[in-house]
Amino acid sequence: MHTLEELNKNRLPKHVAIIMDGNGRWAKERGKLRIFGHQNGVEAVRKTVENCAKLQIQFLTLYAFSTENWNRPKIEVETLMKLLVSSLRKELKTLNKNNIKLSAIGNIDSLPSKAQKELAEVISKTSKNTGMTLTLALSYGSREEIKIAVKEIALKVKNNIISPENIDEAVINTHLYTHFLPDVDLLIRTSGEHRISNFLLWQIAYAELYFIDVFWPDFREHHLVEAILSYQNRERRFGKTSEQLN
Ligand code: IPE
Ligand code: IPE
Ligand code: MG
Repeated sequence: MHTLEELNKNRLPKHVAIIMDGNGRWAKERGKLRIFGHQNGVEAVRKTVENCAKLQIQFLTLYAFSTENWNRPKIEVETLMKLLVSSLRKELKTLNKNNIKLSAIGNIDSLPSKAQKELAEVISKTSKNTGMTLTLALSYGSREEIKIAVKEIALKVKNNIISPENIDEAVINTHLYTHFLPDVDLLIRTSGEHRISNFLLWQIAYAELYFIDVFWPDFREHHLVEAILSYQNRERRFGKTSEQLN
């Protein structure tokens, strides 16, 4: 089995993003309720965060709850929010021990007030950490993010703060939830689904995509290493020819 030591530390992705999918099916396979899968997914989050921090990955972004996930049964949404609160509470120590700074993207105001409060507290209590930035995508939808950015920019044009000629990619970037993050280098999705599900559409323009056929609660160190090994064996050309890169 692959271990972290095998990786070339000089060619690590700077920003790894993960669509943590398959909790429900993991539980169903065991004859349990979907929420049992979510509970077991928390352990995979902890291990992955610790492994990325060990590797000194600079940015890790986890898709935890999408704007579309609000359409799930009320009881599942409520339990997911409770799980978020209890995990944040439990993980504060581990985050500080590993010098990890927490942040969040998405429509945070739409979360239950308890979750908002807990989130704000952990963000503030880890804000001085200088290691990895761990970003949770919560009530996050990429189209909504882009819509908000367009509205903000339009308003600035209307108020003569910016002129349309000056709207470039950098300006758009500064209006996204992710303004403090670099583009994604490696995007991983578990559970065998091959889709993006409204995650970081703008930010993954040149990301390397890696789809793996394990359900999120089963995602372990060797799966993470396999994904990064695959990344390290690819040639990122950004539109150029292979010869130009050498
Ligand atoms: C991912 O697992 C977790 C969330 C979306 C919150 P799912 O709950 O989507 O699990 P499956 O895809 O139904 O198996
Ligand atoms: C994407 O998974 C959202 C998260 C992992 C939080 P979903 O399970 O909600 O995506 P779809 O509905 O299968 O595309
Ligand atoms: Mg799913």
